[in-house]
Amino acid sequence: MARCPNLPWIARWLCVSVAAGALGSASFAASADVSFTKDIAPILAKKCVTCHGPEKAKGNYQLHNFETLLKPGASKTASVTPGHPAKSELFRLLVITDADDRMLQKDDPLPKPQAALIEKWIQQGAKFDGPDVKAHLASLNPRVPHPNPPASYAQHVPIAALRSAQMASNSRPAATTKYRTGNR
Ligand code: HEC
Repeated sequence: MARCPNLPWIARWLCVSVAAGALGSASFAASADVSFTKDIAPILAKKCVTCHGPEKAKGNYQLHNFETLLKPGASKTASVTPGHPAKSELFRLLVITDADDRMLQKDDPLPKPQAALIEKWIQQGAKFDGPDVKAHLASLNPRVPHPNPPASYAQHVPIAALRSAQMASNSRPAATTKYRTGNR
């Protein structure tokens, strides 16, 4: 446990747990790792790429992939300084009070928990955990898998129910007439 020196037991427990990855979720433990691909890329892809992407590069800044995200824009001030959110334009502009300068421009500020995630990610070293720094941020989001349809439905889905009613009614003309003419 070289990484977990003699700390009060609670800090040591946290440290050991985090080292073991036991606390996985960023929102659960204050010191758990924030994942760029899972936590940050979806926020930026949704909120920022419209103004800072391949089509538009407001402030001469693009962040549609990780490589461009690290390059400063018109201000020539570091967009991300690993370990220092306050020296990272990408975070500083999210939380400055002047609404004219704040990102998202012409919109409500980013919700606090999302801004806090970005802050924490920079504090933790702004690491990239994706496969390719040139991949579009939207392609990094792990897709929510669609559940497979059930092999059989507990009840007939309506269209199948109609069909079986029709088939059953072939041998009973009266029922067919009733069915075809609708509500009577
Ligand atoms: C509606 C458009 C719009 C949206 C959405 C937007 N921005 Fe901006 N952004 C701008 C404009 C315009 C500038 C240039 C401001 C200036 O030069 O005063 C800018 C500048 C920046 C800069 C400074 C670049 C530099 O070095 O000069 C950063 C960093 C930035 N935006 C990050 C973000 C982030 C992160 C988001 C999403 C949370 C975001 N922006 C969303 C319009 C937008």
